[in-house]
Amino acid sequence: MEKSKKNPKHIAIIMDGNGRWAKARELPRIEGHRAGAKTVKEIVTAAREMGIKYLTLYAFSSENWKRPKPEVNGLFRLLIEYCENELDTMLKNGISFNVIGEWGKLPNNTRKVLRNTMGETEKGKKMRLTLALNYSARKEILIAVSNILKDNVKRISEKGFIKRLFTYDMPDPDLIIRTSGELRLSNFLLWQAAYSEFFFTKTLWPDFSKDEFSKIIEDFAGRERRYGGI
Ligand code: FPP
Repeated sequence: MEKSKKNPKHIAIIMDGNGRWAKARELPRIEGHRAGAKTVKEIVTAAREMGIKYLTLYAFSSENWKRPKPEVNGLFRLLIEYCENELDTMLKNGISFNVIGEWGKLPNNTRKVLRNTMGETEKGKKMRLTLALNYSARKEILIAVSNILKDNVKRISEKGFIKRLFTYDMPDPDLIIRTSGELRLSNFLLWQAAYSEFFFTKTLWPDFSKDEFSKIIEDFAGRERRYGGI
């Protein structure tokens, strides 16, 4: 029986519960997202210190456009602030910044900052930080299929399919964490999650900490991963 014994190489997180965190404090929802952005900083640092190679965060789903405009704009504002404030730290710590999803449909100024951050940090070798923005896993799969049809490909292997996903140059996530007590994947990394381990915590994202993160990674290290074998 094989235990994973070591750290996951790729951790993906569904950061959930910002709104409830704010509501409990009678604060506007955006304050929950602002507190959530602080948690992002703490977890990115922790992941890098623990030697995690890929950290992927679900920051804006394609369904999130349904939220009130001020909340959506506030989220993009926080994203811009994050990229601008963290650029030096990312460069110093060898973090390469990456985006998956249809981020070409985000507002101009947001796109510009994202493009700049990706360009500046592209040589970072220690950890890849990926934000899923305007991301929908079903859409990702449909885009891959459309590209296959466009290329007139008659047969497709798993490898050939993977090459056409947004995550073409990343390993699948070993561990997917979701905060706030919801037990769903919500259209996140559907193809890539085929063999992922899951961890659900009731903690709301703004309250999620480095300590809880390391405990989850310890729990992961003790799990058996059999990939269909015995
Ligand atoms: C889910 O909480 C969270 C989001 C939709 C956005 C996540 C954004 C951040 C953590 C802040 C900005 C990100 C970066 C990378 C700087 P929710 O609003 O659905 O919470 P609720 O279910 O309690 O209402």
